[in-house]
Amino acid sequence: MPRFLVLHPLFFLLFTVAIARGQDNPISPEEYQSQIRAGFSTNWFKSFAKKPMKKYSEKNIEDIHDKGFRNLRIRCDAELYSSKVEFQWFLGNLTTIVDGCLKHDVIPIISWIHHHAEAYATEEDHDAYVAWWTAVARQLKDRDYRLSFNLFTELGIDTCSKGKTEKKIVEKLCNNSLRRRTDKYNRWTKDVTKAIRATGGKNAKRIIILASPGKTAKDLDRIDPAIYKNDSYMMAEWHLYASGPIKTPGSQKYWSGDGGSARKTNNCVERSLKLLDNGGDRFAKSGRGQWKQRKHK
Ligand SMILES: *[C@@H]1O[C@H](CO)[C@@H](O)[C@H](O)[C@H]1NC(C)=O
Ligand SMILES: *[C@@H]1O[C@H](CO)[C@@H](O)[C@H](O)[C@H]1NC(C)=O
Ligand SMILES: *[C@@H]1O[C@H](CO)[C@@H](O)[C@H](O)[C@H]1NC(C)=O
Repeated sequence: MPRFLVLHPLFFLLFTVAIARGQDNPISPEEYQSQIRAGFSTNWFKSFAKKPMKKYSEKNIEDIHDKGFRNLRIRCDAELYSSKVEFQWFLGNLTTIVDGCLKHDVIPIISWIHHHAEAYATEEDHDAYVAWWTAVARQLKDRDYRLSFNLFTELGIDTCSKGKTEKKIVEKLCNNSLRRRTDKYNRWTKDVTKAIRATGGKNAKRIIILASPGKTAKDLDRIDPAIYKNDSYMMAEWHLYASGPIKTPGSQKYWSGDGGSARKTNNCVERSLKLLDNGGDRFAKSGRGQWKQRKHK
């Protein structure tokens, strides 16, 4: 695997939340799910020093397409590019890469990351988040419907630093992180989806991928239905761990033996699949769209 393509350590499952057509017509979540298939995540926009355009090559996109991969998740660290000029470079570089993907029929999925903002989630962070997505969405509003926006890379971080001892930063739980404060998650998501839709062009009916408020499947029902009930182009993402084994007990990637102990944790494959399989569960197997419908009965 080329060094600059980093395979995401988690299975990346996409779960559809809505109801249905090619690239000049809006793509339904069901259709999108079948088109994205397996893919890669990139770190091209996760370092300022290592210039994205040095890591990107069009040939690489062609190659992964030829090997059967159909999506590229473009993870973008919003902590970088703080000046206006740098942000314009970012938008320009991002556009080049999105166009390269579309040219070779690899679906580009843009995702936002900002660990500090996720952990502290201040009003200022909220405003910057909405502004970031508005700028990205406006820049790419006319790109065809294969492009999608993945609102959060994953909500995994909930430690805030409390201060420093001589040796290290002391961490404590962040009581106000997006992951712990689903009210904030819902407000950020509501505001950003409205802002993206309002940029017009194809963004009015482009696929937007929501995050699970707690990362895994069990938290999907905490998403406020008001966000997706009137929108046929939303999907939700949740994660399940298939990586490891890591020998540190308590780690989400901890496995021992045949993985029996991991089966007892929330994040393990079996438990997550059960969430999908349980007939009585909202995320029932029959249910693309069922999640949406059940919440409104
Ligand atoms: C891409 O980013 C570089 C800096 O890393 C910048 O010099 C260049 O102008 C950008 N390209 C576009 C098309 O904006
Ligand atoms: C955060 O929550 C923990 C546990 O509920 C509590 O003990 C702690 O005092 C809280 N910290 C702050 C700064 O609110
Ligand atoms: C629902 O969506 C339609 C079409 O996108 C729009 O015209 C209507 O105002 C929306 N209704 C609500 C309650 O948001």
